[in-house]
Amino acid sequence: MSGHGGNVIEIAEQFGLPANELIDFSANINPLGAPERVKELIKNHLACIEKYPDAEYRHLHQAIAKAHQCAYASVIAGNGATELIYAVVRYLNPKRALLLIPGFAEYRRALQQIGAEIIDYPLTENAGFQPDLRLLDTLSNTHPDCVFITTPNNPTGLMPDSQFMQSLVEYCEKHKIALIVDEAFIDFLPDNRGLIPQVAAAQHLYILRSLTKFFAIPGLRLGYLISGDITGIAEMKKRREPWSINALAALVGEILFDEHAYMTATHQWLKSQQHYLWTHLSAFPELTVWPPSANFLFFRCNEPNLHLWHALLKQRILIRHCQNYVGLDDRYYRVAIRSEWENQRLIAAMQQVLHG
Ligand SMILES: Cc1ncc(COP(=O)(O)O)c(C=O)c1O
Repeated sequence: MSGHGGNVIEIAEQFGLPANELIDFSANINPLGAPERVKELIKNHLACIEKYPDAEYRHLHQAIAKAHQCAYASVIAGNGATELIYAVVRYLNPKRALLLIPGFAEYRRALQQIGAEIIDYPLTENAGFQPDLRLLDTLSNTHPDCVFITTPNNPTGLMPDSQFMQSLVEYCEKHKIALIVDEAFIDFLPDNRGLIPQVAAAQHLYILRSLTKFFAIPGLRLGYLISGDITGIAEMKKRREPWSINALAALVGEILFDEHAYMTATHQWLKSQQHYLWTHLSAFPELTVWPPSANFLFFRCNEPNLHLWHALLKQRILIRHCQNYVGLDDRYYRVAIRSEWENQRLIAAMQQVLHG
């Protein structure tokens, strides 16, 4: 098991279910599917798989730098954001790192691989699962070399307060702590530009972005990291295995930032369906639901004798249970926001499971 969502085939085989009948709410992928231009581009450029891609990925890096109006030297693309989580950890080589829990599992795996000590900083339900200035006290008491924070967070879907983020950036800059901000889902928030505009003035800030969720290309794989630490970026480029991004993904990355109609359509879909799922899920008295900012929702099921994950699976609906997130237990779940009919199916199945 990968320990992540999206493992439909594995679960279908395990439970003897037809995989094509399951609706996958466990992976947070844009249900509009990959942009048509992306599919056309791939069809028209299949011959590029017969050559090695440019090991420097010059055109791809230029496209990313242009899209974010930042220096070419501050950008490194990767085979999904995941490759860059491992690359930045290997480059920083921290002795001690702080992780906010619950959070995305790959930071911990990458840190464990290099033998870093990990300090867990719990985001508690009492504090609304949100970090606040108390985190700075913990940083000053524990002196980590690096901190990971995810905005919006996975699995909670919550966006930390922007003033708090500013204080965190300033604190880490002042105390030379590497701050890795994972903005894998930020494109889903139409008005949020994230922290990339700040990298030019910061030496210790590393911003991770994923293109796999928003543009629905998790099988193609593409992500990037932007930082003002251009020595670090150069070092990561030098150290990594050559050709880790395939030629088709690199080509696709050159056009994605121009997909304005797709971006607008995504924001329109999300606005209506986020509202639909949030209001309907919140209406079940058995569930405590946290307000979503991105394309997924986090909730607790307060029925002690119900195994919601199994019950929904019987209805051909796969959701993400959160029991393997450090800091959570088997009462917590996450669901992706999907197309209108799929969301209606989820609500109908939930009605069936909770109220019979
Ligand atoms: C917070 C977060 N960061 C990074 C990733 C990895 O994304 P990618 O598919 O670009 O490797 C994920 C995937 O689920 C994620 O949830």
